[in-house]
Amino acid sequence: MMLLALLWLTLLAFVVSAQNASVPNQALVIDPKSFSALKTVPPPSKSNLTTIFLPPGISEDEATSKPFHVYDDAFYDIIGDNPTLTVIASQGINPLYHEAVVWYPPTDEMFFVQNAGATASGTGLNKSNIIQKISLSQAAQYSTQRNASGHVNVTTVNANPTVVNANGGTNYRGQLLFTGEGQGNNTAPSLYVVNPQPPYNTTVLVNNYFGRQFNSLNDVSINPRNGDVYFTDTLYGYLQDFRPPPALPNQVYRFTPTTGAVTVVADGFDLPNGITFSPNGSYAYVTDTGAQYSFYGYNMTAPASIYRFTVEEDGTFSNRKLFTYATPGVPDGIHCDTNGNVYAGLNDGVQVWNPSGTLLGKIFLGTTSANFNFAGKGRMVICAETQLYYATLAAEGAVVASQMPPM
Ligand SMILES: *[C@@H]1O[C@H](CO)[C@@H](O)[C@H](O)[C@H]1NC(C)=O
Ligand SMILES: *[C@@H]1O[C@H](CO)[C@@H](O)[C@H](O)[C@H]1NC(C)=O
Ligand SMILES: *[C@@H]1O[C@H](CO)[C@@H](O)[C@H](O)[C@H]1NC(C)=O
Ligand SMILES: *[C@@H]1O[C@H](CO)[C@@H](O)[C@H](O)[C@H]1NC(C)=O
Ligand SMILES: *[C@@H]1O[C@H](CO)[C@@H](O)[C@H](O)[C@H]1NC(C)=O
Ligand SMILES: *[C@@H]1O[C@H](CO)[C@@H](O)[C@H](O)[C@H]1NC(C)=O
Ligand SMILES: *[C@@H]1O[C@H](CO)[C@@H](O)[C@H](O)[C@H]1NC(C)=O
Ligand SMILES: *[C@@H]1O[C@H](CO)[C@@H](O)[C@H](O)[C@H]1NC(C)=O
Ligand SMILES: *[C@@H]1O[C@H](CO)[C@@H](O)[C@H](O)[C@H]1NC(C)=O
Repeated sequence: MMLLALLWLTLLAFVVSAQNASVPNQALVIDPKSFSALKTVPPPSKSNLTTIFLPPGISEDEATSKPFHVYDDAFYDIIGDNPTLTVIASQGINPLYHEAVVWYPPTDEMFFVQNAGATASGTGLNKSNIIQKISLSQAAQYSTQRNASGHVNVTTVNANPTVVNANGGTNYRGQLLFTGEGQGNNTAPSLYVVNPQPPYNTTVLVNNYFGRQFNSLNDVSINPRNGDVYFTDTLYGYLQDFRPPPALPNQVYRFTPTTGAVTVVADGFDLPNGITFSPNGSYAYVTDTGAQYSFYGYNMTAPASIYRFTVEEDGTFSNRKLFTYATPGVPDGIHCDTNGNVYAGLNDGVQVWNPSGTLLGKIFLGTTSANFNFAGKGRMVICAETQLYYATLAAEGAVVASQMPPM
């Protein structure tokens, strides 16, 4: 009897470990040791900031057909047993799927915005970009397909008044909060609160620093501990020729809704861009896309980096620390999961690091994702300019709960 039980347990352990060792269908294991010492390392004219790197023996086809790239075993817990990636909309050359990816739980919809100022958008100085949304339950119906483009309705959200050149977004007291980059000399960059349901009425929350225009507001995040609104101001409006030359340093600001106070929490960046907080709000992560001067090209020795700050009890930032230098391209939009892992959009897709800055894995698209977001647990929408993706995985986004009113 005893022996039988032992045999049974051994068999069970074998089955469990065999299952554990099996790599999910859409996952590809990439052992960092496989490329620590390459036979030849190409010069900067062939391998640089803009070059998508795949280790020898892995083709672009294989890399995109198995888009969940496992660089560290900890990534298995993030993707789960059966992660999926589906194209749910594609749009020729118009970069309609850019940033400000925000989930609105009451209707289970995801909002996102067009790339303001990109040449193919025809926006920026001439007209404002547009905000759109999709229904996640509709997207979920196609998660077993790889490309379900055209099946999911993508609806334009006519915010009233318009959010001018929206770029970043987050949840805010049951509504949505967008950053607008401004337009020309006379429409100041602003933080806008938008009602996520018709009639999509809009209220300007902040549009100046003691009477001075911001340069072009980029991203925004709410600290879950103090409820304050932290936002980045940077140069992309100017670097895409739709804003005048900057008249303030590129900084990170904080708005305290209860008092109306606007304070500065960090400077010293080239181009501060994405911002997010760790799950309990004790760390802030800010991306610096200084290497990417938009219409004015790249600077390969400038930051393509993520910095981490400690958020003090009084809401100020301290202990600026280099979290990672990321490649290829620049880390743009950034979000954490509930375990404090850090996700950012780069020129090859979404990359994931543990809180110590070690790359755990990628959701590899082979193209740029400027931003993406979780829709709670197990679901993510990824913007890739002309393509919109729906992903399923195991991880859960850190944001939202604290910003939503009780349901
Ligand atoms: C085995 O599965 C466990 C639980 O899902 C996971 O934590 C671990 O990383 C996996 N390891 C490997 C090598 O698959
Ligand atoms: C960077 O590498 C790419 C190849 O991936 C090459 O086409 C490009 O010219 C290189 N850029 C520079 C500035 O050398
Ligand atoms: C605005 O439109 C004009 C005419 O179509 C075009 O020449 C110009 O490049 C556009 N400017 C921007 C910033 O998109
Ligand atoms: C998905 O399908 C659409 C329509 O056939 C196509 O235009 C698009 O390029 C495809 N996307 C990808 C990433 O393969
Ligand atoms: C998608 O949009 C079309 C056209 O507006 C509409 O007829 C259809 O009911 C929508 N589908 C869903 C599931 O909302
Ligand atoms: C802003 O105003 C200045 C001074 O009048 C002018 O030179 C510049 O072209 C304007 N810039 C934009 C983007 O409208
Ligand atoms: C939209 O209007 C409703 C009803 O007046 C109001 O409660 C809400 O705060 C408004 N939202 C915004 C963002 O203006
Ligand atoms: C917040 O989380 C960090 C780990 O990310 C932990 O070190 C810290 O003690 C936590 N702070 C509080 C107030 O729970
Ligand atoms: C590139 O960036 C570095 C670091 O910010 C800076 O020192 C350098 O002047 C820049 N080069 C050019 C050509 O702008």
